[in-house]
Amino acid sequence: MKNKLILDGKQTANGEVRISGAKNAGLVIMAASIMAEGETVLDNVPRIRDVDVMLDILTEMGVVCRWNEDQSLSICPPTGNIDKPTPYELSKKLRASNLFLGALMGRQGEAAVSLPGGCDIGTRPMDLHIKGISALGAEVSLEQGNIYATAKQLQGARIYLDFPSVGATENIMMTACRVPGQTFIENAAKEPEIVDLANFLNTMGGRVRGAGTDIIKIEGVPELKAGRYAIIPDRIEAGTYMVAAAISGGTVLLENIIPTHLHPIIAKLQETGAHIEERESSLLVEGSADIRPADIKTLPYPGFPTDMQSQMLALLCRADGTSVVVENVFENRFQIVDEFKRMGAQIKVKGMSAIVQGVPQLNGSTVKATDLRAGAALILMALAAEGRTVIEEANYIFRGYEDIVNKFAGLGVTLTAE
Ligand code: UD1
Repeated sequence: MKNKLILDGKQTANGEVRISGAKNAGLVIMAASIMAEGETVLDNVPRIRDVDVMLDILTEMGVVCRWNEDQSLSICPPTGNIDKPTPYELSKKLRASNLFLGALMGRQGEAAVSLPGGCDIGTRPMDLHIKGISALGAEVSLEQGNIYATAKQLQGARIYLDFPSVGATENIMMTACRVPGQTFIENAAKEPEIVDLANFLNTMGGRVRGAGTDIIKIEGVPELKAGRYAIIPDRIEAGTYMVAAAISGGTVLLENIIPTHLHPIIAKLQETGAHIEERESSLLVEGSADIRPADIKTLPYPGFPTDMQSQMLALLCRADGTSVVVENVFENRFQIVDEFKRMGAQIKVKGMSAIVQGVPQLNGSTVKATDLRAGAALILMALAAEGRTVIEEANYIFRGYEDIVNKFAGLGVTLTAE
């Protein structure tokens, strides 16, 4: 399988790109589909490696999944209980496999889930997920790398999250949907993907209110019915192509986006000098010849997304001045800095902060993707660098970016997979 991406710089991104469905909304909604009776049909699911792994896990669970001719995805769970733990070999590839905890609890009141993997960007514990499911009445134990949750009786509860964890909010929402009584999730995550999950659950007959605010109220219902649902566009994929325009001084029109989801990214890109024009479901980004420095703090939504931190770091490497980037969500998300330095970047990392001194020139080099978003950031660096960049471990990038070689080709950028 191809695991390298090669780009000869400098190149300018110019043209139109259609943004795919959101990875993080698609993955959780695929998991939630097992809670419904009958066949769920999902539109706008991205064709990426993480979705393939999720499909493999579902298939192992006895769920029948099928891509249809119109590009939609059908998911049809079996009638009986799903007892086997989600397989470790697959779960370790994907953090989102932890979402089967809430989906299985919501479906059948018990769950066996292998501890998840995913990008190595921090410790990524599951204490808040477990606390939430336990508050609803489940007994949770950890044996041989599996989380087992069982319950004699589940009951709605008031749950306060110490941190607005996306995964914990999603797991609790899914379980609470089928639990008698009312559940309140306080200090809930507010990401657009949470709202998408709530809309999906409500399409199936769930009663979820307040998603997108700090408090989500869920009233349990006895059953959920399958339906058809379209996943929102991927704001992080969109953000990545926005930075491609900004770092290369090009002009890119992004189609199929929801502009409000991009406001935190738009604001920062404007600070760096990019010109951005918002339309109803598209966005025009014009890079500027002079990139200005900017300070960034990653935060839960509507703060600046941690999943865009590496891409912005790449842009700031070319700024005329010094920027400070503070990572507040994951503790290990500056690993890519060493690779950036190989390309001539000047960055000092101190704890959770990176001090970036912009340089007038970057140079192509052989570098290695350290996680999904950091891998995408290397492509952005390569666009702006003189000479050839060879990105190894490009598999990380294919996990989350649909058709990336062809999408860049559409922008006039030659990116070759090898
Ligand atoms: C999701 C996204 C990921 C994104 C992240 C933050 C998916 C599949 N992945 O990951 O792309 O970067 O949101 O926007 O949707 N934490 C705890 N205890 C817990 C759970 C989380 O301490 O029980 C901490 C984590 O270690 C981390 C922070 O909370 O420091 C944020 O994690 P969380 O919001 O849960 O991220 P994920 O759901 O893993």
